[in-house]
Amino acid sequence: MAENVRTDVAAGPASAGVAPADGTPRPVARRRPGRGSITLLVVLLLAVVAGAGAATIHARQSPAAGPPSGPPWSPTAAPTTGATPTGTGTGLRSLAPANLRIGSAMEMKLLDADPRFRDIFTTNFNALTAENAMKWRNLEPTRGGYNWTPSDQLVEFGQAHGQAVYGHTLVWHTAVPSWIDESWDTETIRDLLRNHVTTVVGRYRGKVWAWDVVNEVLDEQGGLRDTIWLRKLGPGYIADAFRWAHEADPNARLFINEYGTEGRTRKADGLFRLVRELRAVGVPVHGVGFQSHLRWDRTPDDTTGNLRRFADLGVSVAITELDVRITLPVTPEKLQRQERLYRHMLRACLTVPTCESFTVWGFSDATSWINTTYPDHGAACVFDADLEPKPAYDALVETLRERRGRVDVPSPGSG
Ligand code: G3I
Repeated sequence: MAENVRTDVAAGPASAGVAPADGTPRPVARRRPGRGSITLLVVLLLAVVAGAGAATIHARQSPAAGPPSGPPWSPTAAPTTGATPTGTGTGLRSLAPANLRIGSAMEMKLLDADPRFRDIFTTNFNALTAENAMKWRNLEPTRGGYNWTPSDQLVEFGQAHGQAVYGHTLVWHTAVPSWIDESWDTETIRDLLRNHVTTVVGRYRGKVWAWDVVNEVLDEQGGLRDTIWLRKLGPGYIADAFRWAHEADPNARLFINEYGTEGRTRKADGLFRLVRELRAVGVPVHGVGFQSHLRWDRTPDDTTGNLRRFADLGVSVAITELDVRITLPVTPEKLQRQERLYRHMLRACLTVPTCESFTVWGFSDATSWINTTYPDHGAACVFDADLEPKPAYDALVETLRERRGRVDVPSPGSG
Protein backbone atom coordinates (compact mmCIF):
# COMPACT_ATOMS: atom_id res chain seq x y z
CA MET A 1 0.00 0.00 0.00
CA ALA A 2 1.41 3.39 -0.93
CA GLU A 3 2.45 5.64 1.90
CA ASN A 4 0.60 8.57 0.50
CA VAL A 5 -2.71 6.84 1.07
CA ARG A 6 -2.44 8.60 4.43
CA THR A 7 -3.09 11.85 2.64
CA ASP A 8 -6.71 11.02 2.14
CA VAL A 9 -7.48 9.96 5.65
CA ALA A 10 -5.89 13.02 7.12
CA ALA A 11 -7.80 15.36 4.88
CA GLY A 12 -11.41 14.67 5.64
CA PRO A 13 -12.57 12.43 8.39
CA ALA A 14 -9.89 13.53 10.79
CA SER A 15 -11.55 16.87 10.75
CA ALA A 16 -15.11 15.58 11.08
CA GLY A 17 -16.83 15.85 14.39
CA VAL A 18 -15.14 19.00 15.46
CA ALA A 19 -16.95 22.15 16.41
CA PRO A 20 -16.39 25.55 14.84
CA ALA A 21 -13.87 27.73 16.62
CA ASP A 22 -15.57 29.43 19.52
CA GLY A 23 -12.73 31.18 21.30
CA THR A 24 -13.22 34.73 22.49
CA PRO A 25 -11.25 37.10 20.29
CA ARG A 26 -7.97 38.06 21.91
CA PRO A 27 -6.23 41.37 21.66
CA VAL A 28 -4.60 41.65 18.28
CA ALA A 29 -1.23 39.94 18.12
CA ARG A 30 1.70 42.13 18.95
CA ARG A 31 2.84 42.14 15.35
CA ARG A 32 1.63 41.31 11.93
CA PRO A 33 3.03 38.77 9.50
CA GLY A 34 5.95 40.04 7.55
CA ARG A 35 7.40 42.11 10.38
CA GLY A 36 10.02 39.52 11.01
CA SER A 37 12.53 41.72 12.78
CA ILE A 38 9.97 43.00 15.30
CA THR A 39 8.83 39.45 15.87
CA LEU A 40 12.37 38.35 16.50
CA LEU A 41 12.94 41.17 18.97
CA VAL A 42 9.79 40.33 20.91
CA VAL A 43 10.73 36.68 21.07
CA LEU A 44 14.31 37.43 22.01
CA LEU A 45 13.08 39.63 24.83
CA LEU A 46 10.77 36.89 26.03
CA ALA A 47 13.59 34.44 25.72
CA VAL A 48 15.95 36.61 27.75
CA VAL A 49 13.33 36.97 30.47
CA ALA A 50 12.73 33.24 30.36
CA GLY A 51 16.44 32.62 30.47
CA ALA A 52 16.71 34.61 33.68
CA GLY A 53 14.65 31.96 35.35
CA ALA A 54 16.10 29.10 33.42
CA ALA A 55 18.86 28.30 35.87
CA THR A 56 16.24 27.73 38.53
CA ILE A 57 14.24 25.52 36.26
CA HIS A 58 17.27 23.51 35.29
CA ALA A 59 18.19 22.98 38.90
CA ARG A 60 14.73 21.58 39.59
CA GLN A 61 14.84 19.11 36.77
CA SER A 62 16.62 15.86 37.24
CA PRO A 63 17.30 12.85 35.09
CA ALA A 64 14.76 11.01 37.16
CA ALA A 65 12.01 13.40 36.24
CA GLY A 66 9.16 11.69 34.48
CA PRO A 67 5.42 11.46 34.52
CA PRO A 68 4.00 11.57 38.03
CA SER A 69 3.36 7.86 38.14
CA GLY A 70 2.90 4.87 35.91
CA PRO A 71 0.42 2.04 36.01
CA PRO A 72 1.33 -0.57 38.63
CA TRP A 73 2.56 -3.06 36.07
CA SER A 74 4.55 -0.56 34.10
CA PRO A 75 7.92 1.02 34.63
CA THR A 76 7.74 4.17 36.67
CA ALA A 77 8.40 6.03 33.49
CA ALA A 78 11.64 7.60 34.60
CA PRO A 79 13.30 8.54 31.33
CA THR A 80 16.32 6.33 31.72
CA THR A 81 15.71 5.65 28.06
CA GLY A 82 16.88 8.44 25.86
CA ALA A 83 17.99 11.81 27.02
CA THR A 84 17.11 13.58 30.18
CA PRO A 85 14.50 16.28 29.78
CA THR A 86 16.80 18.87 31.27
CA GLY A 87 16.49 22.07 29.30
CA THR A 88 19.25 24.02 27.70
CA GLY A 89 19.11 27.38 26.08
CA THR A 90 16.27 29.78 26.44
CA GLY A 91 13.59 28.34 24.23
CA LEU A 92 10.41 26.39 24.82
CA ARG A 93 12.21 23.49 26.46
CA SER A 94 13.59 25.66 29.24
CA LEU A 95 10.07 26.84 30.10
CA ALA A 96 8.45 23.42 30.23
CA PRO A 97 7.62 21.78 33.53
CA ALA A 98 9.87 18.88 34.44
CA ASN A 99 7.21 16.29 33.68
CA LEU A 100 6.51 17.52 30.16
CA ARG A 101 8.65 17.13 27.07
CA ILE A 102 8.38 19.56 24.20
CA GLY A 103 9.06 17.78 20.94
CA SER A 104 9.10 18.09 17.20
CA ALA A 105 9.04 15.60 14.38
CA MET A 106 12.42 15.54 12.73
CA GLU A 107 14.40 14.20 9.80
CA MET A 108 18.17 14.00 9.79
CA LYS A 109 18.44 15.57 6.34
CA LEU A 110 16.78 18.76 7.66
CA LEU A 111 19.26 19.01 10.50
CA ASP A 112 22.18 18.47 8.13
CA ALA A 113 20.95 21.08 5.66
CA ASP A 114 20.73 24.21 7.79
CA PRO A 115 22.66 25.16 10.95
CA ARG A 116 20.09 27.83 11.85
CA PHE A 117 17.29 25.29 11.63
CA ARG A 118 19.35 22.96 13.82
CA ASP A 119 19.95 25.67 16.41
CA ILE A 120 16.28 26.54 16.67
CA PHE A 121 15.49 22.88 17.06
CA THR A 122 18.00 22.20 19.82
CA THR A 123 17.18 25.41 21.65
CA ASN A 124 13.45 24.83 21.75
CA PHE A 125 12.86 21.10 21.91
CA ASN A 126 13.89 18.44 24.38
CA ALA A 127 12.29 15.60 22.47
CA LEU A 128 12.26 14.47 18.87
CA THR A 129 10.06 12.10 16.96
CA ALA A 130 11.36 10.28 13.92
CA GLU A 131 9.06 11.71 11.25
CA ASN A 132 9.83 8.96 8.74
CA ALA A 133 13.11 7.22 9.59
CA MET A 134 11.62 4.52 11.82
CA LYS A 135 8.71 3.52 9.61
CA TRP A 136 8.94 -0.10 8.61
CA ARG A 137 9.08 0.43 4.86
CA ASN A 138 11.96 2.86 5.32
CA LEU A 139 13.83 0.70 7.81
CA GLU A 140 13.53 -2.52 5.83
CA PRO A 141 13.01 -1.64 2.17
CA THR A 142 13.91 -5.17 1.14
CA ARG A 143 13.31 -8.28 3.21
CA GLY A 144 16.11 -8.51 5.75
CA GLY A 145 17.84 -5.50 4.15
CA TYR A 146 17.79 -2.91 6.89
CA ASN A 147 18.73 0.72 6.52
CA TRP A 148 19.41 1.85 10.05
CA THR A 149 21.50 4.88 9.22
CA PRO A 150 18.88 7.67 9.31
CA SER A 151 17.24 6.40 12.50
CA ASP A 152 20.56 5.69 14.23
CA GLN A 153 21.70 9.20 13.40
CA LEU A 154 18.51 10.72 14.80
CA VAL A 155 18.90 8.77 18.02
CA GLU A 156 22.53 9.85 18.33
CA PHE A 157 21.57 13.46 17.62
CA GLY A 158 18.90 13.36 20.31
CA GLN A 159 21.31 11.89 22.83
CA ALA A 160 23.94 14.50 22.02
CA HIS A 161 21.48 17.38 22.47
CA GLY A 162 19.51 16.34 25.54
CA GLN A 163 16.49 15.30 23.49
CA ALA A 164 14.44 12.25 24.34
CA VAL A 165 13.63 10.16 21.27
CA TYR A 166 10.05 9.16 20.53
CA GLY A 167 9.89 6.14 18.21
CA HIS A 168 7.35 6.38 15.42
CA THR A 169 5.87 3.93 14.52
CA LEU A 170 6.00 0.17 14.77
CA VAL A 171 2.69 -0.88 13.24
CA TRP A 172 1.05 1.38 10.65
CA HIS A 173 -0.95 0.18 7.69
CA THR A 174 0.49 2.75 5.30
CA ALA A 175 4.11 1.98 6.15
CA VAL A 176 3.97 -1.72 5.32
CA PRO A 177 6.99 -2.66 3.19
CA SER A 178 6.09 -3.36 -0.41
CA TRP A 179 7.75 -6.79 -0.25
CA ILE A 180 5.17 -8.10 2.21
CA ASP A 181 2.57 -10.12 0.38
CA GLU A 182 -0.83 -10.43 1.98
CA SER A 183 -1.40 -13.78 0.34
CA TRP A 184 1.26 -15.29 2.60
CA ASP A 185 -0.11 -17.50 5.35
CA THR A 186 -1.09 -16.11 8.72
CA GLU A 187 1.84 -17.57 10.64
CA THR A 188 4.35 -16.08 8.24
CA ILE A 189 2.77 -12.64 8.50
CA ARG A 190 2.57 -12.90 12.27
CA ASP A 191 6.22 -13.92 12.52
CA LEU A 192 7.22 -11.02 10.31
CA LEU A 193 5.36 -8.51 12.45
CA ARG A 194 6.73 -9.95 15.69
CA ASN A 195 10.24 -9.97 14.29
CA HIS A 196 9.87 -6.37 13.14
CA VAL A 197 8.65 -5.12 16.53
CA THR A 198 11.24 -7.10 18.44
CA THR A 199 14.13 -6.13 16.18
CA VAL A 200 13.41 -2.41 16.13
CA VAL A 201 12.52 -1.98 19.79
CA GLY A 202 15.45 -4.22 20.77
CA ARG A 203 17.92 -2.20 18.73
CA TYR A 204 16.91 1.00 20.49
CA ARG A 205 16.38 -0.50 23.92
CA GLY A 206 17.36 2.09 26.50
CA LYS A 207 17.62 4.78 23.82
CA VAL A 208 14.04 5.42 22.78
CA TRP A 209 11.88 6.54 25.68
CA ALA A 210 8.50 5.90 24.05
CA TRP A 211 7.07 4.12 21.04
CA ASP A 212 3.97 4.59 18.97
CA VAL A 213 3.37 0.87 18.99
CA VAL A 214 0.29 1.05 16.82
CA ASN A 215 -0.74 4.00 14.69
CA GLU A 216 -4.20 4.80 13.30
CA VAL A 217 -5.81 1.43 13.99
CA LEU A 218 -9.33 2.87 14.06
CA ASP A 219 -11.76 3.79 11.32
CA GLU A 220 -13.78 6.97 11.40
CA GLN A 221 -16.65 5.32 13.29
CA GLY A 222 -14.33 4.18 16.05
CA GLY A 223 -14.20 0.54 14.99
CA LEU A 224 -11.03 -1.27 14.04
CA ARG A 225 -9.65 -0.14 10.70
CA ASP A 226 -9.61 -2.69 7.91
CA THR A 227 -5.89 -3.31 7.43
CA ILE A 228 -3.64 -6.16 6.44
CA TRP A 229 -3.01 -6.80 10.13
CA LEU A 230 -6.66 -7.05 11.04
CA ARG A 231 -7.45 -9.17 8.01
CA LYS A 232 -4.60 -11.60 8.54
CA LEU A 233 -4.17 -11.66 12.31
CA GLY A 234 -7.52 -10.58 13.72
CA PRO A 235 -8.01 -7.91 16.41
CA GLY A 236 -5.47 -9.57 18.73
CA TYR A 237 -2.60 -8.09 16.72
CA ILE A 238 -2.83 -4.88 18.73
CA ALA A 239 -2.36 -6.57 22.09
CA ASP A 240 0.37 -8.77 20.62
CA ALA A 241 2.29 -5.77 19.31
CA PHE A 242 2.25 -4.13 22.74
CA ARG A 243 3.38 -7.34 24.46
CA TRP A 244 6.21 -7.91 21.99
CA ALA A 245 7.36 -4.31 22.38
CA HIS A 246 7.23 -4.57 26.15
CA GLU A 247 9.31 -7.73 26.12
CA ALA A 248 11.87 -6.09 23.86
CA ASP A 249 12.24 -3.04 26.12
CA PRO A 250 10.43 -3.24 29.46
CA ASN A 251 11.36 0.37 30.24
CA ALA A 252 9.98 1.98 27.11
CA ARG A 253 6.68 3.84 27.29
CA LEU A 254 4.23 2.27 24.88
CA PHE A 255 1.62 4.42 23.14
CA ILE A 256 -1.35 3.95 20.89
CA ASN A 257 -1.46 6.89 18.48
CA GLU A 258 -4.48 8.20 16.60
CA TYR A 259 -5.78 11.19 14.66
CA GLY A 260 -9.20 12.81 14.86
CA THR A 261 -9.53 11.92 18.52
CA GLU A 262 -8.37 15.12 20.23
CA GLY A 263 -11.93 16.23 20.84
CA ARG A 264 -15.10 14.38 21.68
CA THR A 265 -15.62 12.50 18.45
CA ARG A 266 -17.16 9.14 17.73
CA LYS A 267 -13.70 7.94 16.90
CA ALA A 268 -12.40 9.20 20.25
CA ASP A 269 -15.14 7.17 21.95
CA GLY A 270 -13.96 4.11 20.04
CA LEU A 271 -10.37 4.76 21.09
CA PHE A 272 -11.48 5.13 24.68
CA ARG A 273 -13.27 1.78 24.60
CA LEU A 274 -10.29 0.09 22.97
CA VAL A 275 -7.78 1.41 25.50
CA ARG A 276 -10.08 0.47 28.38
CA GLU A 277 -10.43 -3.06 27.04
CA LEU A 278 -6.70 -3.48 26.47
CA ARG A 279 -5.91 -2.25 29.96
CA ALA A 280 -8.57 -4.46 31.50
CA VAL A 281 -6.78 -7.56 30.26
CA GLY A 282 -3.34 -6.35 31.25
CA VAL A 283 -1.97 -5.28 27.90
CA PRO A 284 0.97 -2.91 28.53
CA VAL A 285 -0.53 0.22 27.00
CA HIS A 286 1.10 3.09 28.86
CA GLY A 287 -0.14 6.05 26.91
CA VAL A 288 -2.45 7.46 24.28
CA GLY A 289 -1.11 9.81 21.64
CA PHE A 290 -3.38 12.39 20.08
CA GLN A 291 -1.91 13.40 16.74
CA SER A 292 -3.75 16.72 16.42
CA HIS A 293 -3.45 17.62 12.76
CA LEU A 294 -5.83 20.54 13.01
CA ARG A 295 -7.36 23.10 10.69
CA TRP A 296 -7.16 26.79 11.54
CA ASP A 297 -10.96 27.17 11.55
CA ARG A 298 -12.00 24.24 13.73
CA THR A 299 -11.46 23.68 17.41
CA PRO A 300 -11.65 20.16 18.84
CA ASP A 301 -14.58 19.80 21.18
CA ASP A 302 -13.62 19.66 24.89
CA THR A 303 -10.01 18.63 24.40
CA THR A 304 -9.21 18.88 28.10
CA GLY A 305 -12.18 16.76 29.16
CA ASN A 306 -11.34 14.24 26.49
CA LEU A 307 -7.70 13.94 27.58
CA ARG A 308 -8.84 13.67 31.18
CA ARG A 309 -11.11 10.72 30.59
CA PHE A 310 -8.22 8.82 29.05
CA ALA A 311 -5.92 9.82 31.90
CA ASP A 312 -8.57 8.53 34.30
CA LEU A 313 -8.07 5.08 32.77
CA GLY A 314 -4.56 5.18 34.23
CA VAL A 315 -2.68 5.92 31.04
CA SER A 316 -0.53 8.89 30.15
CA VAL A 317 -1.58 11.10 27.30
CA ALA A 318 0.47 13.06 24.78
CA ILE A 319 -0.02 15.51 21.97
CA THR A 320 2.06 13.76 19.36
CA GLU A 321 1.81 15.48 15.96
CA LEU A 322 0.35 18.94 16.34
CA ASP A 323 0.07 21.28 13.41
CA VAL A 324 -2.59 23.75 12.37
CA ARG A 325 -2.95 24.17 8.64
CA ILE A 326 -4.27 27.37 7.16
CA THR A 327 -6.27 27.73 3.98
CA LEU A 328 -4.21 29.90 1.67
CA PRO A 329 -3.79 32.82 1.51
CA VAL A 330 -2.52 33.39 5.00
CA THR A 331 -4.02 36.43 6.74
CA PRO A 332 -3.41 38.01 10.16
CA GLU A 333 -6.82 36.79 11.27
CA LYS A 334 -6.03 33.20 10.32
CA LEU A 335 -2.69 33.38 12.10
CA GLN A 336 -4.52 34.59 15.17
CA ARG A 337 -6.96 31.68 15.00
CA GLN A 338 -3.99 29.38 14.55
CA GLU A 339 -2.30 30.87 17.58
CA ARG A 340 -5.41 30.19 19.66
CA LEU A 341 -5.44 26.58 18.60
CA TYR A 342 -1.81 26.01 19.55
CA ARG A 343 -2.58 27.64 22.89
CA HIS A 344 -5.73 25.54 23.28
CA MET A 345 -3.84 22.30 22.78
CA LEU A 346 -0.95 23.20 25.08
CA ARG A 347 -3.31 24.34 27.81
CA ALA A 348 -5.21 21.07 27.57
CA CYS A 349 -1.96 19.14 27.89
CA LEU A 350 -0.75 21.24 30.81
CA THR A 351 -4.08 20.82 32.55
CA VAL A 352 -3.83 17.04 32.59
CA PRO A 353 -0.99 16.06 34.94
CA THR A 354 -0.14 12.89 33.04
CA CYS A 355 0.27 14.61 29.69
CA GLU A 356 3.86 13.52 29.09
CA SER A 357 4.76 15.29 25.90
CA PHE A 358 3.66 18.03 23.58
CA THR A 359 5.02 17.49 20.10
CA VAL A 360 4.62 19.53 16.93
CA TRP A 361 4.81 17.81 13.56
CA GLY A 362 7.72 19.88 12.33
CA PHE A 363 8.30 23.46 13.40
CA SER A 364 9.00 25.26 10.12
CA ASP A 365 6.51 26.19 7.43
CA ALA A 366 9.29 25.61 4.91
CA THR A 367 9.46 21.87 5.43
CA SER A 368 6.07 20.79 6.76
CA TRP A 369 4.37 17.76 5.20
CA ILE A 370 1.30 19.98 4.75
CA ASN A 371 2.90 21.79 1.82
CA THR A 372 3.01 18.72 -0.38
CA THR A 373 -0.11 17.03 0.90
CA TYR A 374 -2.55 19.94 0.92
CA PRO A 375 -1.68 22.28 -1.97
CA ASP A 376 -4.39 24.75 -0.94
CA HIS A 377 -3.18 24.87 2.67
CA GLY A 378 0.05 25.85 4.34
CA ALA A 379 1.69 27.79 7.16
CA ALA A 380 0.86 25.06 9.66
CA CYS A 381 3.83 25.43 11.99
CA VAL A 382 5.06 27.79 14.71
CA PHE A 383 7.97 29.20 12.67
CA ASP A 384 7.44 30.63 9.20
CA ALA A 385 9.32 29.61 6.07
CA ASP A 386 12.11 32.08 6.92
CA LEU A 387 12.43 30.51 10.36
CA GLU A 388 10.91 33.54 12.07
CA PRO A 389 8.66 32.78 15.03
CA LYS A 390 4.95 33.23 14.41
CA PRO A 391 2.19 34.28 16.81
CA ALA A 392 1.65 30.58 17.51
CA TYR A 393 5.20 30.34 18.86
CA ASP A 394 4.62 33.30 21.16
CA ALA A 395 1.43 31.61 22.33
CA LEU A 396 3.39 28.52 23.37
CA VAL A 397 5.95 30.66 25.22
CA GLU A 398 3.22 32.58 27.03
CA THR A 399 1.26 29.47 27.92
CA LEU A 400 4.32 27.72 29.33
CA ARG A 401 5.21 30.80 31.34
CA GLU A 402 1.66 31.09 32.68
CA ARG A 403 1.76 27.51 33.95
CA ARG A 404 5.29 27.35 35.29
CA GLY A 405 4.32 28.56 38.72
CA ARG A 406 1.71 25.84 39.02
CA VAL A 407 4.01 22.98 38.19
CA ASP A 408 7.52 23.82 39.32
CA VAL A 409 8.11 23.61 43.03
CA PRO A 410 11.32 25.23 44.26
CA SER A 411 13.74 22.71 45.60
CA PRO A 412 16.23 23.37 48.39
CA GLY A 413 19.33 25.00 47.14
CA SER A 414 18.01 25.82 43.73
CA GLY A 415 18.82 29.25 42.76
O1 G3I B 1 12.47 10.81 0.75
C1 G3I B 1 11.76 10.59 -0.47
C2 G3I B 1 12.47 11.26 -1.59
O2 G3I B 1 13.70 10.64 -1.77
C3 G3I B 1 11.61 11.14 -2.85
O3 G3I B 1 12.22 11.85 -3.89
C4 G3I B 1 10.24 11.72 -2.60
C5 G3I B 1 9.32 11.56 -3.81
O4 G3I B 1 7.98 11.59 -3.44
O5 G3I B 1 9.65 11.02 -1.53
C6 G3I B 1 10.39 11.16 -0.33
O6 G3I B 1 9.73 10.44 0.67
C7 G3I B 1 8.57 11.03 1.19
C8 G3I B 1 8.77 11.20 2.71
O7 G3I B 1 7.58 11.69 3.27
C9 G3I B 1 9.91 12.16 3.05
O8 G3I B 1 9.61 13.43 2.61
C10 G3I B 1 7.39 10.13 0.93
O9 G3I B 1 7.13 10.09 -0.47
C11 G3I B 1 6.18 10.63 1.65
O10 G3I B 1 5.13 9.68 1.52
C12 G3I B 1 6.50 10.81 3.12
O11 G3I B 1 5.37 11.38 3.73
C13 G3I B 1 5.31 11.24 5.13
C14 G3I B 1 3.98 10.58 5.50
O12 G3I B 1 3.83 10.56 6.91
C15 G3I B 1 3.89 9.15 4.98
O13 G3I B 1 4.84 8.34 5.61
C16 G3I B 1 5.41 12.62 5.77
O14 G3I B 1 6.73 13.14 5.56
C17 G3I B 1 5.13 12.54 7.26
O15 G3I B 1 5.04 13.84 7.79
C18 G3I B 1 3.80 11.82 7.47
O16 G3I B 1 3.62 11.72 8.85
C19 G3I B 1 2.39 11.13 9.27
C20 G3I B 1 2.68 10.32 10.51
O17 G3I B 1 3.68 9.37 10.24
C21 G3I B 1 1.40 9.63 11.02
N1 G3I B 1 0.35 10.61 11.25
C22 G3I B 1 0.06 11.47 10.10
C23 G3I B 1 1.32 12.18 9.61
C24 G3I B 1 1.01 13.08 8.44
O18 G3I B 1 0.54 12.35 7.34
